[in-house]
Amino acid sequence: MSYQVLARKWRPRTFDEVVGQGTVTKTLKNALASGRIGHAFLLSGARGVGKTTSARILAKALNCSNGDKPTAEPCGECASCKEITNGASLDVQEIDGATHNGVEQVRELRESARYNPARDRFKIWIIDEVHMLSTGAFNALLKTLEEPPPRVKFIFATTEYHKIPDTILSRCQQYDFRLIPARELVTHLRHVADGESIEVSDDTLARLARAAEGSARDALSLFDQVLSFSGRTVRDEDVSALLGLIDRELLLAASRAVAAGDSLAALELVEQLSDYGADYRNFTRELILHFREILLLKVAPGESVLIAQLVPEERERLQPVAAQLSEEDLLRIFEVLAKAETDLRLAQDPRVTLEMALLKIVQMQRLLPFAELVARVERLAGGVSAPAPAPAPRVPEIAAAPRPVARVEPTPVPAPVPTPKPAEARTPPPLMTATQPPAAAPAPPAPVAASATATATLADGPDAVLQAMVAQAQARPSLAQPLRAARARQDGETLVLEFTPDFSVFADLHADEYRDLARKATGRPTKVKITSGALAPEAVAGEPEVASPERKRQQLIEEASREPAVQEALDLFGGRVVDVRETKS
Ligand SMILES: Nc1ncnc2c1ncn2[C@@H]1O[C@H](COP(=O)(O)OP(=O)(O)OP(=O)(O)O)[C@@H](O)[C@H]1O
Ligand SMILES: [Mg+2]
Ligand SMILES: [Zn+2]
Repeated sequence: MSYQVLARKWRPRTFDEVVGQGTVTKTLKNALASGRIGHAFLLSGARGVGKTTSARILAKALNCSNGDKPTAEPCGECASCKEITNGASLDVQEIDGATHNGVEQVRELRESARYNPARDRFKIWIIDEVHMLSTGAFNALLKTLEEPPPRVKFIFATTEYHKIPDTILSRCQQYDFRLIPARELVTHLRHVADGESIEVSDDTLARLARAAEGSARDALSLFDQVLSFSGRTVRDEDVSALLGLIDRELLLAASRAVAAGDSLAALELVEQLSDYGADYRNFTRELILHFREILLLKVAPGESVLIAQLVPEERERLQPVAAQLSEEDLLRIFEVLAKAETDLRLAQDPRVTLEMALLKIVQMQRLLPFAELVARVERLAGGVSAPAPAPAPRVPEIAAAPRPVARVEPTPVPAPVPTPKPAEARTPPPLMTATQPPAAAPAPPAPVAASATATATLADGPDAVLQAMVAQAQARPSLAQPLRAARARQDGETLVLEFTPDFSVFADLHADEYRDLARKATGRPTKVKITSGALAPEAVAGEPEVASPERKRQQLIEEASREPAVQEALDLFGGRVVDVRETKS
């Protein structure tokens, strides 16, 4: 017996067998059951979604002789039904609108319509591709539709609804056929496979369904091709090879590489693709669909119809990848892949284009946590230097001074720029505590005075305040040390702290903290002016010598390393400060 293609063999014979067109078939059945039957029906929709099939079922429903009126459930057994199925009915004419599109043909049709049906209930014309009729033919048809002979029915089918004149449309009951969702195609394919005793995985059926893009006929034709190649036991690889589809393993490997930020794996995958002779553009397209599935998994709840398109085993495999990618990640990935897909059309070296696109999305994945870290550091730095109302006047020469900026290795970070700010409006930064290792560099100079009390006012003299500040700074050796080397003066109501050049930058950076110390030491808001002066050598007793540029640099590095924001950055990135540069800010 000759092989009958699956699409023919499995053509639905009842409305209930029509897959994925529930709305249409339900409406048709209701109309038939209730006897509200028009003279003309228009079935529109894409190719291979069941229009012609439904037109024939409708013809049977109208003419089935196994009852005394039209029925929603044609028997399929009576002479009328059988003849329609075989295309041999005298009263049901199928016309191809593409070839019978002239006025003449429609005139013949009208002539014939004046006579009663030969045997059956109705004389039925099924005009396929009705949009192909010429204008004259439509006009001629319109006359019949305006005054339809009582026992005549028209069933029109078209893939191009918009080409049908409104005058015709308005005289038809319209039925819109939709593309069939992949999951319904899968169910249908499974039904066919079982009926044909074919062994095939859900995965393969899902891929066939996807390749069919909503057309049942295409799905079945693809299945035919696979079977002619593989016989009754279908191996997944056969389908990949035959349909030029990309092995799902490769797609999964790609998304895993992206999620893991693994560039090497991504490149190896392209190598595999090339071994396999795959079309890079096709792969890119499949990859987009693959990431789409991952997105669906993320956004749609488990019971969603969107998710139902995915076979459960596939869902399980995708879940871990989905967990690692955010919706924003996926959108960015789509953008890159969509661009690559377009670029690949004209690419001189498609392989490189694909490689670069993959590397890009892998890198993006890696950079995202990095960007998040940078944001954290910036937030932290922002917390330290957020502007606040300034009760104490800023000292112009210091405010205008260039600020040191820490550079962190191995990865460059937009370094936080700690800026001095007024004392009263803030709390000290969190990390500068006694647990801080004391500054390793320069040997601490001898304390200016040993017997410092914790409080003193300007009335007690600037030196007393300075000593009180040193005492307040007990827990902050890094703050205390520059103070010990500093000089205090009084200028009206202002305490002038003159730091040694070695500490001038540090003091500038920590001006707020010194103001804070001054406030604690005096027990009241105190105006503090911070300056740096070249102190007489005897004033910096214990200082070995005037700082060399290199020593100053080292010191800056140490100071910068103590900055909370910098420390945070160092912790996050496992880096160390290698240099401190001044920026104009
Ligand atoms: N909704 C469906 N459910 C089940 N099978 C379908 C469906 N649609 C199409 N098929 C299968 O595809 C074959 C072709 O369908 P049909 O001729 O009805 O498509 P069509 O919509 O008329 O397409 P075209 O626009 O190309 O004429 C059928 O024999 C059937 O096997
Ligand atoms: Mg058709
Ligand atoms: Zn019948």
